[in-house]
Amino acid sequence: MAPRIRPATLDDLDALMVLEHEIFADDPWSREAMRSELVSPHTLYLVAEVDGARPVAFDAAPRIPSPAVGPIGSEAVAPPPAAGDTADAAHIVGYAGLSAPSSADQGDVQNIAVVPELRGTGLGRQLLRLLIAEAERRGLADLLLEVRVDNTAAQRLYRSEGFAQIAIRPRYYRGAIDALIMSRPLANATAATAAIATESVAATPTETEGTP
Ligand SMILES: CC(C)(COP(=O)(O)OP(=O)(O)OC[C@H]1O[C@@H](n2cnc3c(N)ncnc32)[C@H](O)[C@@H]1OP(=O)(O)O)[C@@H](O)C(=O)NCCC(=O)NCCS
Repeated sequence: MAPRIRPATLDDLDALMVLEHEIFADDPWSREAMRSELVSPHTLYLVAEVDGARPVAFDAAPRIPSPAVGPIGSEAVAPPPAAGDTADAAHIVGYAGLSAPSSADQGDVQNIAVVPELRGTGLGRQLLRLLIAEAERRGLADLLLEVRVDNTAAQRLYRSEGFAQIAIRPRYYRGAIDALIMSRPLANATAATAAIATESVAATPTETEGTP
């Protein structure tokens, strides 16, 4: 079954920290940093989950269902867990975070991760596209991210979704690993809305053209 994607809540913090330490073992975010991200009004975090307990050593921590947070306007995003879900009814298999302060022109992809057993199935791309869509919806002009210079899998994903390298940040990561800074222009929300309106007018058939 395809993973369901929904906005993360603070109740996902334990499970996210388990994955953060598994996936970014060299340099995981602290629990406090992750917590701040989840509660910030300037971020959107998504989690992808599948039913049942995770069949590996890293089982997600028990999760308590919580009230809904707002949807982000995509049909691909499922509603938060319904009351009555049990703690092990689902486990998180991927997550991604966007920072998009309301006063800023630029947003940042804060992180994106998929559990090893589901990599290569399109989930990372799906999560990234949802962040891009949300950044466009918020009217940002550009989306930035940092990626390790040796992380070719992530770089290929980013390039295929329109990101291009704009700079190198030397010794940014633990172990003196350089970071590539990548950027992607976004369709300005107002311009995009205007363009859609123009297209729909232009696409309206005239009487002489007729309709099928
Ligand atoms: C980067 C990551 C999120 C990609 O997630 P994913 O679900 O495996 O990616 P997808 O299946 O959607 O693949 C999307 C594209 O990524 C690239 N890609 C994915 N895995 C790859 C690999 N092992 N080698 C090379 N390119 C790869 C490909 O371009 C792929 O497109 P394609 O399938 O059309 O060739 C995942 O590998 C991951 O969690 N890595 C560890 C955490 C991490 O490095 N996060 C990024 C921090 S900047």
